[in-house]
Amino acid sequence: MLTFTPIHPTFGAEVHGADLATLTDEGLEEVKTAIAKYGFLVFRDTGLDDDGHVAFSKRLGDLDNIARFLTPGRKMRYNHIELFDAGNLDNDGNILDPDSPRAHQGKGNGIFHVDSSFNPRRASYCLLRSVELPPDGAGGNTTDFADSRTAYDALPAELQQQLLANNYVGRHCIAQSRKLGDPEFYHDLDPSTQPHMRHHILQRHEPSGRMNLYVGAHLHRLEIEGQGLVDKDESDRLIREINAHVCSAPFVTSVTWKQVGDIIMWDNRAVQHRAGEGSYAGKYKRDMRRTTVHDDSPTAWGLNATTTAMPGFVYDPTGGNTTGAISADLSAPAVAVHS
Ligand code: OGA
Ligand code: MN
Repeated sequence: MLTFTPIHPTFGAEVHGADLATLTDEGLEEVKTAIAKYGFLVFRDTGLDDDGHVAFSKRLGDLDNIARFLTPGRKMRYNHIELFDAGNLDNDGNILDPDSPRAHQGKGNGIFHVDSSFNPRRASYCLLRSVELPPDGAGGNTTDFADSRTAYDALPAELQQQLLANNYVGRHCIAQSRKLGDPEFYHDLDPSTQPHMRHHILQRHEPSGRMNLYVGAHLHRLEIEGQGLVDKDESDRLIREINAHVCSAPFVTSVTWKQVGDIIMWDNRAVQHRAGEGSYAGKYKRDMRRTTVHDDSPTAWGLNATTTAMPGFVYDPTGGNTTGAISADLSAPAVAVHS
């Protein structure tokens, strides 16, 4: 029997009594029921290593992997293709040079976003695990969450009516959030030229039956289904307004990573998240690894063909052997030299 301590009045809970290495099927069902309600769950001091992290995640569905980013130039620090590297370590396990393209790329994670909304098939759950944390007081010890379901409920009536009356589709691309996170570095990158993946911005969250605003930092442009693109200025204005609303104080909370082995699990169809602020960059290691579960709900693929390959991300304006911004040929693996 698991117990849950709520974190915020409307979402989030810390889980007690769950040993993820030995969790029974009944326990797993309790976790699924709880995350449908709370949107994200915090498991303290799980004791899981890479194997255990991946094994538990696999019980939740098919996992995404980083195969499309692996090139001869990219060395893995660990042996699990299912583990995304969300930390600040380079290939050799040293602190990433803050001037490296990968460090610039990571800055976009500091803006509220939904993982994989730029993919044709979106993600349901993510499980992020702390492997090494900066010392107390150095920053980098928090991840923030925004309750996009409650934000929908609390939309100003007029805006909610507008969203309900128009079948808005969001066009997402990773270039959008990278540029927002580091406008200077990505000065010459034009997100409008990048491959866009399309998902409705208003969606019912299947496990809870609640409506959700599926927006966030990767959202580049709105269209109205059947009518085409919304005027650019109007689209920009609306995206800014909706994102600002979701990420406003009443719907946001912050979780502190307390020790190595903590895991936060979130449902990308119900919440947004961002890396908390910190001045640890370039000074301290922050090793975070993440599994990503492919959504298997009816809306997983949004308006994208189920044959669409996952896009990669390649960008190095300083030169190097990259061939351009992002591989526009979605059938080809990205030549990810630095990401
Ligand atoms: C992620 C992410 C935030 C953090 O792993 O998807 O956004 O605090 N991480 O590292
Ligand atoms: Mn993320």
